[in-house]
Amino acid sequence: MSWSGSAQFPVSRPRRLRRTQALRDLVAQTRLDVSDVVAPLFVREGVDSPQPIGSLPGVVQHSLASLRAEVRILADLGVKGVILFGVPAHKDDIGSGAFDPDGIVQVALRSLRDDLGDSMVLMADLCVDEYTSHGHCGILDGHGSVDNDATLDIYARAAVAQATAGAHVVAPSGMMDGQVGAIRSALDSAGHDQTSILAYSAKYASGLYGPFRDAVDVQIVGGGDRKGYQQDWRNAREALVEVEADVQQGADMVMVKPALAYLDVIAAVRSAVDVPVAAYHVSGEYSMIKAAAANGWIDHDAVAIEHLTAIKRAGADFILTYFARWFAESNG
Ligand code: PBG
Repeated sequence: MSWSGSAQFPVSRPRRLRRTQALRDLVAQTRLDVSDVVAPLFVREGVDSPQPIGSLPGVVQHSLASLRAEVRILADLGVKGVILFGVPAHKDDIGSGAFDPDGIVQVALRSLRDDLGDSMVLMADLCVDEYTSHGHCGILDGHGSVDNDATLDIYARAAVAQATAGAHVVAPSGMMDGQVGAIRSALDSAGHDQTSILAYSAKYASGLYGPFRDAVDVQIVGGGDRKGYQQDWRNAREALVEVEADVQQGADMVMVKPALAYLDVIAAVRSAVDVPVAAYHVSGEYSMIKAAAANGWIDHDAVAIEHLTAIKRAGADFILTYFARWFAESNG
């Protein structure tokens, strides 16, 4: 009998290690921990109570008070980070709510920093689409397209406003060329050299952001889209060009977004850089699970945990997900 076994009696028997739950847990190659998830949270100006979002079951537009209560609960559950999105009462051409020291996210950051100090990583999404009347992620030129360099000036002001208000991390998501460098130098000149940048480096022009746009009341003018600045989902190598540019400009962490349709990109980015890699499990990815589970078509908990684990397995160091609180409550 040979050591290499035979077709009838193979030496390798992978099923031996799958026999019991304890054996499977012992040899598991990927572990998802509560410190791997970051909760995206919406805060709306001028409301007294949380407002439900129809296409994001279980997620709300928070009032300032309900946001503070929610972040306290997340901290007690062991979640290490939140990322804030603002829904302003008024929008304008240049998205001034994004850099106004009294804009809703800046107000929220000051309160959360007072409440929690450094025990929770406070991140702020840095973009203007929630704040512009036309819904684009930048300032428009005379022809209705986004003016890259004029937008960088606005992003620089928003970064300084967020850092001054208490953000530990600013997260530029607008996909303007040069945004990380512009933000880094603005932060440094304003004395915020310790504020980190999480760059949404490889952000695709995805159909999966639909529910998010309900959450922040954004409609792009004239039925437009973001294909002129977000990445084409037919391209993977282009993501590495974006990531490399962002790291060179000073990104402390990089992100791939969305997550599940881009596991190949997450894996490629993970092997290309040594900085932490985040993945954003976006609104549509969450809502698809909620909707199918509500119909009884899939098992909510089983699919949610399988998806989040797969994103980690592909190489993400942490995951922005609307399942953060659920995960912390059920697996913390
Ligand atoms: C832009 C931004 C978007 C998301 C995060 N930041 C929307 C967009 O690019 O259209 C989407 C997140 C999600 O779908 O959960 N500020």
